[in-house]
Amino acid sequence: MRIIRSPAAMQRQALAWRRDGVRVGLVPTMGCLHAGHMSLVRRARQAVGPRGVVVVSIYVNPTQFAPHEDFRRYPRDAARDCRACREGGVDVVFRPSDPAMYAGGRARGHSTYVAEERLSRTMEGASRPMHFRGVTTVVAKLFNLVLPELAVFGAKDFQQAAIVRRMTRDLNFPVKVVVVPTVREPDGLALSSRNAYLEPAMRTRARALWQAIAKARAGVRARPAPGAAALKRHLTRFIERQPGARVDYLEFFDPATLEPRRRVRAGTRFALAVFLGRTRLIDNARL
Ligand code: PAF
Repeated sequence: MRIIRSPAAMQRQALAWRRDGVRVGLVPTMGCLHAGHMSLVRRARQAVGPRGVVVVSIYVNPTQFAPHEDFRRYPRDAARDCRACREGGVDVVFRPSDPAMYAGGRARGHSTYVAEERLSRTMEGASRPMHFRGVTTVVAKLFNLVLPELAVFGAKDFQQAAIVRRMTRDLNFPVKVVVVPTVREPDGLALSSRNAYLEPAMRTRARALWQAIAKARAGVRARPAPGAAALKRHLTRFIERQPGARVDYLEFFDPATLEPRRRVRAGTRFALAVFLGRTRLIDNARL
């Protein structure tokens, strides 16, 4: 396995692969890799085959964090991540530094951004206003540096995957966006690098997210098309019964347009963001 740190070297390698007809699969990550990421790696390998190459990018992207968010304390463990990639059969880890990615440190000297303007308005986009602009910008840069034929994303970030897919279509990137189901702990908690922040008591309370999804599913089974507002109130009360839990948002929405739905039916998507102390977790599921 090779570790490439310079964007220019990454792009040179990608151009050489393209000339040689090598198939390339990209798994963009911010590191702190867990079993969910490794399922993306397996999917990329399955797509490009044993003669293709799988590239994992590890980069905590500063432009998708607001100044008050957890950019500085986001968990980073390059040695552990590289080991996991080696054991997972990854060919190249692309691990650029901030100055290299954004010409001169935290967005200094860099003044071009890619912004999706419709799907980014709700949920994560409403709560974290500049977040998706940072995501689409860095993903566009990664597409240009790695030149993959496919890129694999996790369904836990359902809105992110929809926005990346839209950007790829709108800007004609010749990249297939593949979305892989969420990997969960035995008690239902979605795997996330931010789970590392949870102390034992909060970890136990974090089950409330999956329990809320189960309750939403039960709500849809019990009555035809229940109202979203009443269901949100009920689920907010349920989640906030956990000490230290605060709902950031709950949304019922159309999985294709991401538009909120006033009535909840089978097939509606449900997403939620919940603070457990200072840790903010997200999850979603089809009802
Ligand atoms: O999902 C993530 O880890 C990040 O948002 C991504 C796609 C790697 C962009 O920084």
